Amino acid sequence: MSVARENVEAAPSATIEDYYHEGREFPPSEEVRERALIADRSLYEAADADWEGFWATQAAALDWFEPWKTVCEWELPFAKWFNGGKLNVSYNCLDRHVLAGNGGRVAYYWEGEPGDQRVITYAELLDEVQRFANALKGLGVTKGDRVAIYMPMIPEIVVAMLACARIGAPHSVVFGGFSPDALRDRINDASAKVLVTADGGWRRGAVVPLFENAAPILSDTRSIEHVVVVQRTGDGDVPLMQPGRDHFWHDLVLEADAECPPEPMDSEDLLYLLYTSGTTAKPKGIMHTTGGYLTQVAFSHRYVFDLHPDTDVYWCAADCGWVTGHSYIVYGPLANGCSSVMYEGTPDFPSKDRWWEIAERYRVTTLYTAPTAIRTFIKWGSEYPRAHDLSALRLLGSVGEPINPEAWVWYWEHIGGGRCPVVDTWWQTETGAILVAPLPGVTSLKPGSATFPLPGIGAEVVDDAGNRVERGGGYFTLTRPWPAMLRGIYGDPERYRETYWSRFPGRYFAGDGAKVDEDGYLWFVGRVDDVMNVSGHRISTTEVESALVDHPSVAEAAVVGAKDETTGQGIVAFVTLRGGMQVDASDKHGRELRDHVAQRIGPIARPKVVIFTDELPKTRSGKIMRRLLRDVAEGRDLGDTTTLADVGVVDEIRRRAEASPTED
Ligand code: WT7
Repeated sequence: MSVARENVEAAPSATIEDYYHEGREFPPSEEVRERALIADRSLYEAADADWEGFWATQAAALDWFEPWKTVCEWELPFAKWFNGGKLNVSYNCLDRHVLAGNGGRVAYYWEGEPGDQRVITYAELLDEVQRFANALKGLGVTKGDRVAIYMPMIPEIVVAMLACARIGAPHSVVFGGFSPDALRDRINDASAKVLVTADGGWRRGAVVPLFENAAPILSDTRSIEHVVVVQRTGDGDVPLMQPGRDHFWHDLVLEADAECPPEPMDSEDLLYLLYTSGTTAKPKGIMHTTGGYLTQVAFSHRYVFDLHPDTDVYWCAADCGWVTGHSYIVYGPLANGCSSVMYEGTPDFPSKDRWWEIAERYRVTTLYTAPTAIRTFIKWGSEYPRAHDLSALRLLGSVGEPINPEAWVWYWEHIGGGRCPVVDTWWQTETGAILVAPLPGVTSLKPGSATFPLPGIGAEVVDDAGNRVERGGGYFTLTRPWPAMLRGIYGDPERYRETYWSRFPGRYFAGDGAKVDEDGYLWFVGRVDDVMNVSGHRISTTEVESALVDHPSVAEAAVVGAKDETTGQGIVAFVTLRGGMQVDASDKHGRELRDHVAQRIGPIARPKVVIFTDELPKTRSGKIMRRLLRDVAEGRDLGDTTTLADVGVVDEIRRRAEASPTED
């Protein structure tokens, strides 16, 4: 991956100066320290003294069928963790707790958007997982086969993931908000044999008909042999279901055996694929394996959230379609035997206090969400949380993008009542687990800073030349392997090396800029590559551009992420139309293009605005100068509607393009 220097100054949606003005520090209170699992530097010291021994201790907290032979084998950039060891993820998440007498503990308090509720214990979850695992076997799924999952946030999505893990079939969860086209590409890249989906899911009071949407693309997926459909929103026939190929979930589990022994998996066997956007148009299938991944998600979940599994009610308000859901709704929390809340719908249905009503009802102690959600709540007003008893809360988490100090302080005051540490957690799909975050009983918090690398993590900020920056800004890199690290990109080992390990030899770099302040605190400032972050979701500029040029009217498109008060960044598209086409650069056509992108990729990728230009500013070598476009996009109040840039703006773009040095 080449990272152009220009982007370093241009990409961050927040600057360190934005953060510094807050100035306040929040050391752990007496109360927080007293109940903390860790209230001193012991974990950091243990990791520093014996790095491999430290991770071996964490791995030993899991149940292994056979012990590992080596802790870490490192042949840059390929790592093997706990090699030779055998274990099963679903056994560690379920059987282990049931065998220890905790089968009656609640695994999930689930709430559907219409208000339906289910309380599922560990014993019940184990039962459902075994039955569905047998159902998958009955459809011909064997160890190593890939299973695609395209589902709403219902308990069955967790059951499906764990059932795959139980029989050693790697899952590939595709976010239910992605388009059928995106689903098709991911199914084909992984050659998935079975698709698990639902008739629909609830969103803002309406049904999203997942199966019906997906059915037409199935003829373009040669590998799919069977489809399993959960009946969530209806109770009758589902249109387009094909006998023989498609089956109802409830029919399959009714016939399935109640017992399914867990498949002993090698520590390095593939647990799942999860597709994420990069700097090219083709999403990458990030590979996560078994032993190291589970070790690190369990470790980080326990210590970052200071977990007390017998008393906590933990709620990660993400979707299982993202890595946050994989690691911190499913695998981390279940490995640690904790009780979670899981919610299907949107925060404003039926009213803007839905989350706070849920938090009150289940006496949620720990809430993990994204800055974009917090900023939305700020906009709605503090009266919504104030109307509810949130006194059970004791810890708050943030993930997905830099959290601005204003949002941090609002979260601290209006949700946490001034008593709950706010842990800002930095990580990525690729890292599998949180790598940078405070330990709530140890770290003094600065609003807007993710603070320090966790124990056992080697991280450094470096300059352009790859030299360590002790104080000041640069690129965030990792200096050592870590157990939950991606093992590669599915089907493309070269791309793995090139994308993450080539920019700074010997170091992992995946696109984030960061600064180190005078006390050594880390401040992430946003991506330095052509990747946007919209509401905590990673979207590639190139992917949106190729969706745009795939519309018959578009000659060329350039897409930038421009600062947005609520979503962090918003997608702004500059488009030149084909000459001779019977379309004009109208608002109406702009809307059509925005819809076209939403249809190709998913609603999250819909540009906020389309600006028609006669020409795009380019370097002499033909590279589009996104920095310039970002300047234009951020310097003007473009509003929420489609706008035709006036000639002046286009002239201005051209004038500045010519005045700038050639950048290759
Ligand atoms: C990118 C990863 C990790 C789960 C959600 C997103 C940004 C993530 C933070 C944070 C600043 C953050 C980074 C990263 N990011 N957390 N606490 N502070 N930036 O996963 O889709 O893989 O995106 O999200 O830019 O590279 P993802």
